[in-house]
Amino acid sequence: MKEIDEIYQENSLVLKNKKIGFIGGGNMAEAIIKGMVSSSLIKASNVFVSEPNKSRQTFLSAEYKIKIVKDNLELVKKSDVLIIAVKPQIIRQVLNGISDQVDVKKLVISVAAGVPISQIEEALCFRKKKKLCVVRTMPNTPAVVQEGATAIAAGKGVSKTDLKISHEIFQAVGQTVEVPEEQIDAVTGLSGSGPAYIFMIIEALSDAGVKMGLSRDVATELTVQTVLGSAMLVRETGTSPGELKNRVTSPGGTTIAGLHALEKGSLRATLMDAVEKATLRSKELAE
Ligand SMILES: NC(=O)c1ccc[n+]([C@@H]2O[C@H](COP(=O)([O-])OP(=O)(O)OC[C@H]3O[C@@H](n4cnc5c(N)ncnc54)[C@H](OP(=O)(O)O)[C@@H]3O)[C@@H](O)[C@H]2O)c1
Repeated sequence: MKEIDEIYQENSLVLKNKKIGFIGGGNMAEAIIKGMVSSSLIKASNVFVSEPNKSRQTFLSAEYKIKIVKDNLELVKKSDVLIIAVKPQIIRQVLNGISDQVDVKKLVISVAAGVPISQIEEALCFRKKKKLCVVRTMPNTPAVVQEGATAIAAGKGVSKTDLKISHEIFQAVGQTVEVPEEQIDAVTGLSGSGPAYIFMIIEALSDAGVKMGLSRDVATELTVQTVLGSAMLVRETGTSPGELKNRVTSPGGTTIAGLHALEKGSLRATLMDAVEKATLRSKELAE
């Protein structure tokens, strides 16, 4: 296994020796911690978590050897980078509670869905004027298996190094892209809600296999591998999905017969509607 220094040198990473603090030790925090610790991106002793639930505390410290701190204020004191991983409904209360301790040297990264950077800056600066480094992210559930898709949007005070740190953290749980904050609702509608669309498609294809006489296990296994393999083919060849589709569609063959049925059922328009509706709902909820 490679030493942590070697990994850093080879990839010119900037996260080394940074102390990362998680406010909230739930599902998303755990996914990121697991990704960072298992990829040796950071030493477990440089990860701190503030979490009220005792059984979660015990689990996280035993499983990942990270440090549990007594409260959010102690966490802020100990950390260079703060990851806000609590539910959106309590984020204001949590930020108000730590605002005195958060200074310009700290990078604040939020994973909370639907909470704009301006709200985070406002809550952290409510007593005094200060220019803060706030990054807003929108990860998705496949982060749990290190195959997440995370969009990163930077606030005004964020430096190139802060952005690099943010990418490094979320690359430990998958792929990252950078977008202006006004596109985060579209990201929510596409990759945030996207896993649910794909789960539904997998379920439907598996049902279809059963209808055609396959056992449930075989139908699901074939479907999952087909979805995974097709996605990897797009990613690894860099070829457009349209071109890859054309390559497996022979004249008068089986695939074009299946594609015709999908066109009749308006699959493409339905998926576009789904992303549009989810994007608009995300905007509505933020307001
Ligand atoms: N899960 C996802 O796939 C996903 C995707 C995109 C974005 N997000 C965002 O990630 C954030 C966290 O989601 P999650 O699914 O990880 O939720 P979660 O599992 O409920 O985790 C939140 C954790 O924060 C703890 N907590 C509550 N009050 C706290 C406080 N005052 N200080 C510190 N910790 C506190 C909770 O403890 P208790 O359970 O005891 O209350 C819980 O363990 C949300 O804002 C969500 O929008 C999640």
